[in-house]
Amino acid sequence: MRLIFLGPPGAGKGTVAAKIKEAYGIAHISTGDILRENVKRGTSLGKLAERYMQAGDLVPDDIIVEMVESRLQEPDCSEGFILDGFPRTLPQAEALDRILKKLKVKLDAVILLEVDDETIVKRLSGRRVCPKCGAIYNVSFNPPKADSLCDHCGEMAIQRNDDKEEVVRQRLAVYRERTAPLIDYYLRKGILKKVEAARGSDEVAHAIEESLAGGYHGHA
Ligand code: AP5
Repeated sequence: MRLIFLGPPGAGKGTVAAKIKEAYGIAHISTGDILRENVKRGTSLGKLAERYMQAGDLVPDDIIVEMVESRLQEPDCSEGFILDGFPRTLPQAEALDRILKKLKVKLDAVILLEVDDETIVKRLSGRRVCPKCGAIYNVSFNPPKADSLCDHCGEMAIQRNDDKEEVVRQRLAVYRERTAPLIDYYLRKGILKKVEAARGSDEVAHAIEESLAGGYHGHA
């Protein structure tokens, strides 16, 4: 199963991908997580990406495309993958088409998670993430069981730098301008599935599974 999760910041792409990944035994590739890991390790990619991320802007396409192309060739992607946060621009979507053609595989579906702006702001202002294992929490909807400590590894869950209100607004504006056109791109390919995502994450995951069980499209 090869999927793209599309949707605004805070739509729940990472949260739901963690569930769907388990259900189908496929890889979860979050470009945001890969970039944050590079920032943490102080790599040259991390140093370059950090200033874009902190401003809520997109990292240049060529860097992201190269990163995803090499990630898709790792062994854990052989049974399928979820692309979370990629593609985010038309040039990225066209580059993905070329990569998949080279790898001789096709996308099964693009899942669009639809959420209103008010819910997004509430979710992102309350988001906490574990810097060690990447688990995602929310102080209102899904808090860690003990204080602010990660349920899985005990590390202190923290707020992402780009979840500050002004940066969230910029990320939303960038989504509308540069990423939303991909909705039409994948509609035209006949593989877009819209899922109402302003409800509990188990319900969202269930709706995605039902929609995928409704038939694969298999177009590239
Ligand atoms: P990235 O990390 O991809 O950020 P994003 O797309 O803005 O998405 P988020 O991670 O903020 O949201 P999400 O939809 O995954 O929501 P989550 O599940 O965490 O990218 C960060 C930056 O990296 C970009 O700004 C850019 O600079 C750069 N970048 C990354 N990819 C790039 C690319 N391809 N090209 C160029 N630049 C790139 O949920 C959010 C919160 O809501 C959590 O607290 C969660 O607990 C809660 N929640 C989730 N679902 C539910 C639910 N159903 N009910 C209640 N609460 C929920």
